[in-house]
Amino acid sequence: MSKFILLGLILTVPSIFGEKFRFDNYALYKILPKNLGEIKFLQGLYESDNRFDFWTVPGPFAEFVNVLSSPEHRNDLETFLVAHDIDYEIPQFNLQDAIDREAVKPYVRSDLTTMGWDSYYDLDAIYAWMDDLAKEYPSIVTIIIGGTTFEGRQIKGVKISHGTGRRIIFLEGGIHAREWISPATVTYITNELLTSDNEETVAAARDFDWYIFPVTNPDGYVYSHSTFRMWRKNRRPVRDTFGVDLNRNWNNNWLVVGASSDETRDDYAGHGPFSEPETRTLSTYLASIGDKIDLYLSFHSYGHLLLLPFGNTTEPLANYNDSMAIGRRAMGALSVRFGTQYKTGNIAEAIYKATGGSIDWVKETLKVPLVYCYELRDNGTEGFVLPPSEIMPNNLEVMDSLLDMILQARRFGYMSGGFEVRASLSVILMALLAKWLYN
Ligand SMILES: *[C@@H]1O[C@H](CO)[C@@H](O)[C@H](O)[C@H]1NC(C)=O
Ligand SMILES: *[C@@H]1O[C@H](CO)[C@@H](O)[C@H](O)[C@H]1NC(C)=O
Ligand SMILES: *[C@@H]1O[C@H](CO)[C@@H](O)[C@H](O)[C@H]1NC(C)=O
Ligand SMILES: [Zn+2]
Repeated sequence: MSKFILLGLILTVPSIFGEKFRFDNYALYKILPKNLGEIKFLQGLYESDNRFDFWTVPGPFAEFVNVLSSPEHRNDLETFLVAHDIDYEIPQFNLQDAIDREAVKPYVRSDLTTMGWDSYYDLDAIYAWMDDLAKEYPSIVTIIIGGTTFEGRQIKGVKISHGTGRRIIFLEGGIHAREWISPATVTYITNELLTSDNEETVAAARDFDWYIFPVTNPDGYVYSHSTFRMWRKNRRPVRDTFGVDLNRNWNNNWLVVGASSDETRDDYAGHGPFSEPETRTLSTYLASIGDKIDLYLSFHSYGHLLLLPFGNTTEPLANYNDSMAIGRRAMGALSVRFGTQYKTGNIAEAIYKATGGSIDWVKETLKVPLVYCYELRDNGTEGFVLPPSEIMPNNLEVMDSLLDMILQARRFGYMSGGFEVRASLSVILMALLAKWLYN
């Protein structure tokens, strides 16, 4: 590339997309509270001091709390921690370095080989790739539109179907914009379902209808690429600021706990349940297929957790015991390949009470039998800026867990899937045999 073109890019890109925010010398803290008293101090800071970006919430069960600080405020943060005798590490001294290493790659239209999982991709790339999948596998893949965004984009997905009459597995990715590993996981699962020759994967692809939405917060995801890497919410203007947390906006125990009515905060729940076009349209779409969904998975990062409903109470509600047993076994399968340990629990007992999330609404309103939320890699060292070298290990272990989850679900009497078809076939054969015997 000539110097002239390079200069042209530098000069025009900011004017088209707005200045890209830099995180030079922003430091990521991994705070290690020793007891509930220390967690209480951190909670106070989380609630009162908006100079710090809490990447994880200081819930009662927090093993660590990640906080991002600008260089100007690091001193105050450390003074606070030292004054309260709270231990901490600093895994990242310059977040911009980690961001620079993320290596976002272009996707070349009509060339499926240019999609991969050793780097991250922007929304246009993911959408173009999905369009190409529908062209490459016309009898299996169809483009589905789950809704629309505030800025007028489509919530685009793919449906993978090998025939009619199948139950549904629904995958929801990217509802929080900055959690880039989520779309990267969901696109990988999609690709495996279409290209793998692993027997179990092939069976999973054939036995179910897969409804897959890698990016359910497209406006936020675009903004996290173009302008502000750490963006979480959607992009609706609210008073002097922007954005509603789309995973606090669902109509289930809305704004009851672990969500904010302050529009400047990252967990701002919106001005009412389903106030946002993204959640409103996606939930309407979900309701239209709800009675056919056997398994609903939401993908977030990070923290090595498998969460199940509900977020308002640690009480075991609905089919908690079965969901826990199936989830734990699946996380056992996840750990085999690289030893990554996930903790399984309902939202309130595993992290903190939080309501208005998609999985609680899907569970209670649509009565979907199995509903989980993955909090993917990692465990507080890189956080949202997970290095590209970890995308594949993450994807491989998650794929292992997903196949095992389907297996366990069947063992526990959930998700008949392909069995339904085979069972009815044997019923017909038995009936024919009986008829023949008695004639
Ligand atoms: C928590 O939410 C569930 C689902 O809406 C509800 O059935 C239950 O009564 C709630 N529990 C508490 C303690 O609020
Ligand atoms: C769930 O498991 C617990 C502990 O084993 C048991 O006490 C409880 O009765 C079970 N609940 C249901 C609904 O099966
Ligand atoms: C995550 O990190 C914490 C603190 O560094 C550690 O105690 C814990 O065992 C780790 N958990 C998992 C699930 O890897
Ligand atoms: Zn999230």
